[in-house]
Amino acid sequence: MEYDDLIRKRCSIRKFAQRSVEKEKLEQIVEAARIAPSAVDKQPWFFLIISEPENIQALATAYKLPWLAKAPSAIVLLEDKNVSWKRPSDGRDFGDVDLGIAIYAIWLEATNLGLGAACLSFFDPDKIKALYGLPEYIEPIAIMPIGYPESEELWKNRKPRKNMTDIAFWETLPKNLESVTSNTLSIQTSADGKTFSKQEN
Ligand SMILES: Cc1cc2nc3c(=O)[nH]c(=O)nc-3n(C[C@H](O)[C@H](O)[C@H](O)COP(=O)(O)O)c2cc1C
Repeated sequence: MEYDDLIRKRCSIRKFAQRSVEKEKLEQIVEAARIAPSAVDKQPWFFLIISEPENIQALATAYKLPWLAKAPSAIVLLEDKNVSWKRPSDGRDFGDVDLGIAIYAIWLEATNLGLGAACLSFFDPDKIKALYGLPEYIEPIAIMPIGYPESEELWKNRKPRKNMTDIAFWETLPKNLESVTSNTLSIQTSADGKTFSKQEN
């Protein structure tokens, strides 16, 4: 898929066809995350690929909504806090940034392969830790359900985005950032998916 289409068609897919995902495709998706950049190239991550129905059921018990149990596959993204880069000046841990980039790499590659994915962080981390016997330095960051979308058209429901003029500024920031983030969530995706931002100011 062309990159321009890819970044516009990626969206959260939460309804999947009851069809399993090929192992090779799941490997290709994780490969996109494996080669992703990370702070100081620390690569502070593990990817747990779940495809067996009973294992998906078990994973779904850690999430607040039951639809996860219907996902054909899922990838659990784990941060290794022993490995992630901490900025020396203030100790700030960049592992969550690294995992965020891996999330997006997975999401785009899944979309590229005709699959749909979602990213879930509203899970119970203690349940995930207990389920997989994780030590305290391994933090579950996201669960990414992956499967063939129930409908090809689901991406058209992608949520609106803020206006460009509310978030991007040339050279200087406005004095009162609070006033510009009052935001009118007016951006729509057009039927052909080409319209990324529609200014309605
Ligand atoms: C870090 C992160 C955590 C998220 N956690 C959840 C979640 O727990 N449940 C959920 O339904 N969606 C979750 N989402 C999906 C967002 O709500 C979604 O990406 C956003 O509304 C934009 O919609 P779109 O992905 O269709 O473009 C999460 C997304 C990100 C990036």
